[in-house]
Order: sequence, then structure tokens, then C-alpha cells
Amino acid sequence: YHVVHLATEIAPVAKVGGLADVVTGLGKALQEKHHRVEIIIPKYKTLDTSLIKNFKKLEKHFFSYFDGAEHENVVWTGFVEGLRVYFIDPLHPAGFFNRGRIYCEPDDFKRFTYFSRASLEFLLQFGKRPHLIHCHDWPVAVVAPMYKFIYANAGLRAKIALTCHNFEPQGKESMEALMSCGIQFKAPLHKDHFQDNILADKINVLKSGLLHSDFITTVSPTHAREVLTPEGGEGLHTTLRSLTKKFYGIVNGIDDKVWDPATDSHLEHHFTADDLKGKELLKNKLRLRLGMAIQGIDARRPLVCCVSRLVPQKGVFLLRSAIFHTLNRGGQFILQGTSQIPEIKKEFDELAQQFEDHPHVRLILRCDETLTHNIFAAADIFVIPSMFEPCGLTQMYSMRYGTIPVVRKTGGLADSVFDVDQKYVAEEKRNGFTFNEPTEEALASTLDRAFWYFKEQPQWWKSLIQKVMRIDLSWDAAPIDQYLKLYEHTVEDGHPPAS
Ligand code: ADP
Ligand code: GLC
Repeated sequence: YHVVHLATEIAPVAKVGGLADVVTGLGKALQEKHHRVEIIIPKYKTLDTSLIKNFKKLEKHFFSYFDGAEHENVVWTGFVEGLRVYFIDPLHPAGFFNRGRIYCEPDDFKRFTYFSRASLEFLLQFGKRPHLIHCHDWPVAVVAPMYKFIYANAGLRAKIALTCHNFEPQGKESMEALMSCGIQFKAPLHKDHFQDNILADKINVLKSGLLHSDFITTVSPTHAREVLTPEGGEGLHTTLRSLTKKFYGIVNGIDDKVWDPATDSHLEHHFTADDLKGKELLKNKLRLRLGMAIQGIDARRPLVCCVSRLVPQKGVFLLRSAIFHTLNRGGQFILQGTSQIPEIKKEFDELAQQFEDHPHVRLILRCDETLTHNIFAAADIFVIPSMFEPCGLTQMYSMRYGTIPVVRKTGGLADSVFDVDQKYVAEEKRNGFTFNEPTEEALASTLDRAFWYFKEQPQWWKSLIQKVMRIDLSWDAAPIDQYLKLYEHTVEDGHPPAS
């Protein structure tokens, strides 16, 4: 099939979180199966163009509608990890993407609805006729109704897929803001298609995308069930319940070539399940580099780590308590995190200062991809105490690097981590430690169990490391075929299979 992905992130050139990894990983996996994949994202000022092959500006420009006028757009293109990517560069005076960051601008709604309309216009004017347009998250969800009601007779013949990586941000705005991108509320389009379920004076573009896509996915089966409940649905549970026939949960895969401890170019030593010496060396090197204690008794301290966006979703209060608990139990902790939320940023900046010269704790509050890979490789235990987690990739990266996950049993974490002491789960599936309640006590007792095994059962621990490293978490293991089945039914039969 010819599939065009519309997204706001792509790893490694424009990455905020897991969305970027999935757009690239899913694209590569599809391409390896001989499908034609193209990706459209905004041309951000912050793009790391050194990682884009044959990056160039196309000669042909195109115009797209916004705020009552036609605006000119330049298109750049190049290859990211072997994938053909088009970067839309609006010449709009607001400089929508000429900013210092990808999200959290006051005009995000305008920036991304502009991008959505421009992307459809690009496909049309550049003669592209994909079988599927696969949209990711709220910023491009408006493409579904826009396609159906503005572009239906324009010559595009695509089916629309929408993958929701996170239901929390939904793109809620005033109706006037939506009209900027050319949506008119007259038959057959009705305001109800956009009306937010909670706020009477707001429209909701994610909801409109859910209603008008040919199929919808989220990134794990458990999360697909959670969002049907009032507690988990972020106000969209009633909408989603009416759409279950076309709504699926597919756990993300990981790119096991980028994330491979046997070859990872970010690492100075390599290792495999059969030869773990490199992992021990990397643990010591990282601690040494960060100025942490590694001699004598310190050599045997469990190293607990986390790499995360610091937002309420990730259970930041539990992360904080995990640091203190680990320290009390004689362990060491490394946290790599970033936050755009001022109160959380301040709290963790202060914590980082408090532990500045501490032998057993480091907080690194910035992005650094090489450090991230080294943390996954060096850690003994990786903690993810999320309040909710649609999928989560870091538990999977950890396992690939022989690091044992300790996670709260929610969303995709519940679908990928199975407690070693859970007797009703098949032995071969058990691969980590889980807890249910979002409390400091539940987390502490689960960490204690992990520490006990680490200290008292070193041989068993080693075999657990080998076991998690041998799990196939790649796109090929299952997810790619699940997506392809949806693509195939939707393109061939006109609708997805019964979910
Ligand atoms: P989410 O998308 O909700 O942030 P995921 O677990 O799906 O959660 O993906 C997070 C991705 O972002 C992983 O690739 C992780 O390594 C990366 N990441 C998160 N925080 C940082 C950080 N501070 N520095 C570098 N990478 C980070
Ligand atoms: C979102 C979710 C995360 C998921 C990622 C990729 O950012 O928060 O759970 O793994 O998207 O799908």
C-alpha cells in the first residue's frame, strides 16, 4: 500500500516523546514489508537537519487556505532513517514553526490546524494519491473531517486512520478558531461533530477525528479498554463507546536496530544475553562519569533509573519518592527528565541541587540521547510509576538492554510487564515487577521485592536479565501485521474488520 503518515514528530530529528519513535519505527517496518511510505511533518526551526539525508527545498511551492486567504508554502524533503519525509514550511506571517520548540506555544491550535489543511493540499497539488492517510494525535485529527467534508470530491481517494497516542490533549478551542482552517458548519457537517463533551463553548478536534476516521487505534489493548470508562476516557468515553466497531488497541513495537545493545553506537561497550560483561562495564563507567560512588560495597548497589518527561501522567510524586526509597535501601538512582511545567521543573531543579554532590543520586534534567542509551544499558532496574500510560516505550527499551522494569499496572505497561511473582501468569511471560495502587507504599514494597531478588538471588536475577533481553519486542513480532490487517481490510473492503 501507499501510506502517508501525518504527524508532528519524527525521531530522531523532531522528537519530544514516544510519538516520534513510533512514527519512524512504524514507517520503517512498513517500508521493510515493501509498502510505500511517506511522512509529512512541519518544518520546525529546531529540526536537526544534520540527520536528514539529501535535505533540500522543492522548486514547486503551493498555496493553502487559512483565515480567509490563500497562503504560500514551501516544501522541503529528505530521508530520515531511510524514510521519505516532506517538511511543510508555511510562509504565513505568524511564523508558525519558526519557534524554539515543537509544542506549548499559545497558538498551537492554529499552527496545527494550518498544518493539517496544508498537508491535504500538498497531497492534492503534488499528485499524491495514497491508499491511506494515517494521522497521529490531536494536532492532525482534524484531517479526518476536513478530508470528508472539504476534500471529498477533490480527487483524493484515501481512507483515513487515526492513532491516538495520548487522549489527554484533545485540541479544544473556540468554534471561530476552527473556522480559520475553512470548516463551515453547514450540512452535511454539523457543529455536533466537533462539540466538546464537557465544555459547552468549545469544539474538540480529537473528537471530530475519532468520529470521521475510517478506523481508530490507540497504542495498547488495555488502554483501549481504559478509555471507554469515565475515569480513563478524558471526557471522550461516551464517544469512544459508540465507535467500538472501528476502535482497536495495538501495542507499539520498538526499533530493535536503533535499540540494540550488541551494536548501539552510543555505547562504548556492547553486550548480549549470552555475554553480559559489557553491561557491568557500562554501569561503572556511567556512575564514574556522573561522579557517583563505585568502589567496595558501592559496586554492588542496585542502580535504579528512569528517563521520562516530567508531567503528572508519569507519576512525578512517585518518582520523587522512588529516589528517596532507593537511597534508604542502599541503592543508587539516576533520573533523566525534562519538564515544560514550571512548578514541576522548579521542584526537580531543587531536588537536583540537593543531590548535586551526593554519591548515590543524580538528576539530569535535560535531553541527551547518548546519555539516555547509556542509562538503559547501565541500569539494573527501571522504574515507571505512571498514573496512566497509553503504551510506554521505556519499559521495552529497558528490557532490550537487560534492565528489569518496575511499573504501575496501567495501559501498555500492563500489556508488556508481568510480575515475576504473579503465579496466574505463565512463567515464560513473567519479566518484571508491577503494582496496582498509585501510592508511595505500593511502589516502595514493589521496589523492596526487586531489591530482595537483586541482592539475595544473583543467579536468578542474571537469568531474568537474559530472559527479558531475549523477548522479541520489535514491530515485526506482531504489531506490524496487526496494522497491516487493518490497512488491508479498510482499503479492500471499505471498512476495518470487526474489532
Ligand atoms: P511518552 O511518549 O509519553 O513520553 P514513551 O515511553 O512512549 O513516553 O516514550 C518516551 C520517549 O522519549 C523514549 O524514547 C524516551 O527515551 C524519550 N525521553 C523521555 N524523556 C527524555 C529525556 N529527558 N531525554 C531524552 N529522552 C527522553
Ligand atoms: C504517548 C504516550 C506513550 C506512548 C507514546 C507512543 O506519548 O504517552 O504511552 O508510548 O505516545 O505511542
